[in-house]
Parts: sequence; C-alpha cells; structure tokens
Amino acid sequence: MDSPQRRVAAPPEAAVFPDGFLWGAATSAHQVEGNNVASDWWARENAPRSDLPERSGDGADSFHRFGEDIALLAELGFTSYRFSVEWARVEPAPGAFSIAMRAHYGRMISACAAHGLTAVVTLHHFTNPLWFAREGAWRRPEAPAAFARYVAFLTPILQSAPWICTINEPNLLAGVPHDRATGAVLPSLAAPHPQAAANIVAAHRLARAVLRQATDAPVGWSVAAQVHQAAPGAEPFLDAYRRPREDRYWEVAREDDFVGVQAYSRTIIGPDGPLPVPAGMETTQMGWEYYPQALGAAARRAHEVAGRPVLVTENGIATADDRRRIDYTFAALTSLRQAMSDGVDARGYLHWSALDNYEWGSYRPTFGLIAWDPATFERTAKPSARWLGAVARTGRLAPPDRAATPDRTDSRIGGE
Ligand code: BGC
Repeated sequence: MDSPQRRVAAPPEAAVFPDGFLWGAATSAHQVEGNNVASDWWARENAPRSDLPERSGDGADSFHRFGEDIALLAELGFTSYRFSVEWARVEPAPGAFSIAMRAHYGRMISACAAHGLTAVVTLHHFTNPLWFAREGAWRRPEAPAAFARYVAFLTPILQSAPWICTINEPNLLAGVPHDRATGAVLPSLAAPHPQAAANIVAAHRLARAVLRQATDAPVGWSVAAQVHQAAPGAEPFLDAYRRPREDRYWEVAREDDFVGVQAYSRTIIGPDGPLPVPAGMETTQMGWEYYPQALGAAARRAHEVAGRPVLVTENGIATADDRRRIDYTFAALTSLRQAMSDGVDARGYLHWSALDNYEWGSYRPTFGLIAWDPATFERTAKPSARWLGAVARTGRLAPPDRAATPDRTDSRIGGE
C-alpha cells in the first residue's frame, strides 16, 4: 500500500525544471553602469541635438554597485547573473588597453562566484568604443581583428568565467548605422547590413577560437529571436524575410557550445514585411504585443536550426504593472518547459532584466525585477523578483499567487 507521502500528487512534469538549470537575470554594461563616456551610444545621447529623449547618465550606478546587485540576486534565490564587459572602457583608444578596467570585470566574475552565482559574461552588448565607430564600426574589414584583439586581452579574467557570450544580438547589431564623422550611433535600426553581418560573424569566430585556447567555458552568442509568423497567405514570403534577419545567425551557432535565445514577442509577416500588432491585442510599454509564448517558439526554432543546447539569455516585459510581469514570465516559462518536454535541451533562463535600466534612449520602459531610487540608487526588489527567486530556489514553476504579490503599483499596461 502507498504511504501517505507517496499519495501526495506529484507536480505535473511541465512545472518542474531539471537540477542544475540556471535561474538568473541579465543586464548590459551601458544600460546599468552609468557614465560609459568613451562609447558610440554616449556620443549619440550627448550630441547637441540628440534625437533621444533621455541620456543614460549615471545609469543605476552599477559600475560601483555591482556587488550589491549580485548579493541581492543571490539573496532572492537566483543562481546566475548575466552581465557584459564594456569594450569602450577596456579599450577607450585604439590599442590602449586598461588593465584596471579588466580587473574591474574580473572582480565582477569573482563576486558572482563568491555569492554562488554562475556568471554568464557577454563581451559585446550593442555599444562600441567611439574610436571603433569612427573608423566605420562593423562595416570595416579590420573590425573582426580589432574585436579578437580585445577578447584576447580579456582572457586572463575569462579563465574563471563559467559561460561566455561573445556578441549580443548580432542580428540587430549588424543593422545599427553610425555617423561617419562623429562615430555616434544614428537613429533608425535597419535590416542587417551585409558587410557588417559578415564581419560580425567573422569576429565571433575569431573570438571563439581565442576563447577555446584560453578557457574551458562554453562559448556562444545570443540571437534576437523575432518569432516570425506568416500571416494567412504570406507563407511563401516567410523564409526570405527570416533568413537574413535570424536563421543565418542560428546557423553560425552550429559550431558553438550553446546558443543564446532572446525572445519577447512575435512578428507577423505579410507579403510586404512586418504587420502591425493585431487589433485588440494587449501591448507592453514598448508597443510590442504581449505574447509570452514567444519564448517556447524561439527555443524550438533555435534548437531546430542551431542544434545546440539553448540558454535563454533574455526574456521579459516592459511594464509598470509588476503583476503582469509575473503573469508574462509564468506563461513564458510554461512555454519553455513544454518545448523542453518536446526535446529542446534548455540549460537555463536569464530574465531581462535584473534592474530597471536605460532602454536605449529612455528610462521609461521598466523591464526590471529590481527598481532603484534615482537619487540614492537604493535597490528595491519587486514582487516579481521574489516570485521568480522562489521558482529558482525550488526549480518548480508555481502559478502566480495573487495573495503573495499585492504590490500592484500601476495598473496601466500597454502603450502608455
Ligand atoms: C537587448 C537589450 C534590450 C532588450 C529590450 C534586447 O534586444 O539585448 O539590451 O534592453 O532587448 O529591448
């Protein structure tokens, strides 16, 4: 006869994640550190007639407060932290490498280890040194070698990095234009520029070779998964649209140790390109469709095309309604777990973002699990951070408990 304990219903398989699955949150240097003055984005923000509504300024001052951020994530129950090394700080002038800045990022890797967090270290997250942008950024033939030289300089600290992501969203980076005279980033992200795309792929391969010589860490890159879906009748157009923007980058990952998946929403493709969000659908502060099941779909696509283990390096929602963040994350993780049951080898989930941060022009969209005071920089974990931290501690995806998350700060959801 079964013991009473045995009769307790086991949680459904879909709600349990494997042991060792990484549970974390992510940031990027420029978005949280503050004062990234030698970068191409800083140049755009601080141009006399900048097109951007806000400057990054002090950020969340994570350059100085990273220890506090890491300690808080560990205390909340997370087991991993993804952050980026800022090339513009490490090499602020061509060939002028800063040993002190390298040591700074080495201390971040050590702080993660000291708090039991697995560091996932990104070596390039959208920002370039201004000198590199002035020279023509990723369109120049010399770009891959310049990036590999920077990565080689970092190897002494990367020997203890558990996971390394060379380049964040190469498929978006390849479409970022620059002002040739000033090096500042220009408005209007475009489709990947063919030369930039080729150079970014070459840079990734060179960096991977350098890293494989120097470390045992799994090396990969993280791709922006746009979850393209064909509108009825537009099926013949889907592949031609998706290939240069996404599949090409999953294919490069076939030679990597893992592939980073970053998914937020979906893009519906008509015969002439992306269609607006369908009428009546909820949207987020970014104007993106609320579509958490994008995560499972993206993990499946990455697995299908790249055939490598998947690490979710970003997923989250810009909302002022923290309950909606929990709902979204629950649904996204449910879709991921379902994909895993269907054979996708996912190794971890890193929420975007650990902190509210500079969303490339504005602080208005709030993606963070943790808020901070703009005058004192004091951190406050939101209910979503506590909820996801509890999921991380147990490896079990419990449905959101409304009673435990009463702090609904703002009920507005979309398009505000
Ligand atoms: C980027 C982040 C960004 C987030 C939300 C990703 O494309 O890697 O830097 O903040 O999406 O837009």
